[in-house]
Amino acid sequence: MLHQHKTLGEFINENQHAFKYTTGELSSLINSIRLAAKVVNHEVNKAGLVDITGAAGDVNVQGEAQQKLDVYANDRFIQTMINRNIVCGITSEEEDDFIVVNSKDKNHQNKYVVLIDPLDGSSNIDVNVSVGTIFSIYRRITPIGTPVTKEDFLQEGKHQVAAGYIIYGTSTMLVYSTGHGVNGFTLNPAIGTFYLSHPNMEFPEDGNIYSVNEGNYLEFPEGIKKYIKYCQQIEDDRPYTSRYIGSLASDFHRNMIKGGIYMYPKSTKNPEGKLRLLYECNPMAFLAEQANGKASDGYKRILDIKPTQLHQRVPFICGSRNMVDKAEEFMKQYS
Ligand code: AHG
Ligand code: MN
Ligand code: MN
Repeated sequence: MLHQHKTLGEFINENQHAFKYTTGELSSLINSIRLAAKVVNHEVNKAGLVDITGAAGDVNVQGEAQQKLDVYANDRFIQTMINRNIVCGITSEEEDDFIVVNSKDKNHQNKYVVLIDPLDGSSNIDVNVSVGTIFSIYRRITPIGTPVTKEDFLQEGKHQVAAGYIIYGTSTMLVYSTGHGVNGFTLNPAIGTFYLSHPNMEFPEDGNIYSVNEGNYLEFPEGIKKYIKYCQQIEDDRPYTSRYIGSLASDFHRNMIKGGIYMYPKSTKNPEGKLRLLYECNPMAFLAEQANGKASDGYKRILDIKPTQLHQRVPFICGSRNMVDKAEEFMKQYS
């Protein structure tokens, strides 16, 4: 049946005209992410066979042990984008600082910066559970032709030009948005081609799945505790069912298809929350809004937060609109 589906390449070509004054630069950028995704997918698929599971021995700037696949995926995505000369700057969860691309070439015209979580859900690598990649794209705000600065990366999420994720799961998917809805593509590994399998993805307005690491329950803010109890009450369509993979991209993906809410609140252990605003929350919030869902820090819209640091963390509540509204109600009532 695959021949009935459009390929990602065809989709990108057809939709290029949707961007005003396009030079094809964004299309080429998505193409280079598609290529790196296939390479990383190939490596993830044989993870148990080659010596690529386990810790790499280093700790990233946020104090987290880097896995070998974290480092591999980081290098692949960054190298692909640098080799194709398609961006002016990159920042990654696995890098201490942002990377200036092409600063020596006075004529370079690249206008996009990429922010990336190269391997999301790393704790799942060694046990053959889905992991992902999350990316976010902005137009630079400093002048074209000059080296990028931190300001180019510290933009509010609402200024994203595109965002997406790849899931290396039972099948490998690339899901992304350029601000005209969300589309999902499934990789046919036999021929290495992504096909449009999930056009116009949308969160159901309501759902019955809640996804949260309940091991941290005792440390959660009162509003979240009360909301979790609400999810568990026997009333109307409740109790909701609980599903938590521990890979944001995969938890988000399931909830978008089935209807649900994902929460990573603050706790004593993670007083700012755990998830990173630039590499995880903003791209997912952009996709959520493009898919008729909602993303909040418990009180306000994620996409309105003005970042102050590259590795900033933030509490994150995201999913079906009515569910996120309800969680916000509890936060307000019990704060
Ligand atoms: P990463 O592997 O990029 O560090 O991200 C892991 C994130 C997110 O994907 C996941 O939902 C969450 O951390 C899991 O955290 P807990 O293990 O604390 O539940
Ligand atoms: Mn992550
Ligand atoms: Mn990661």
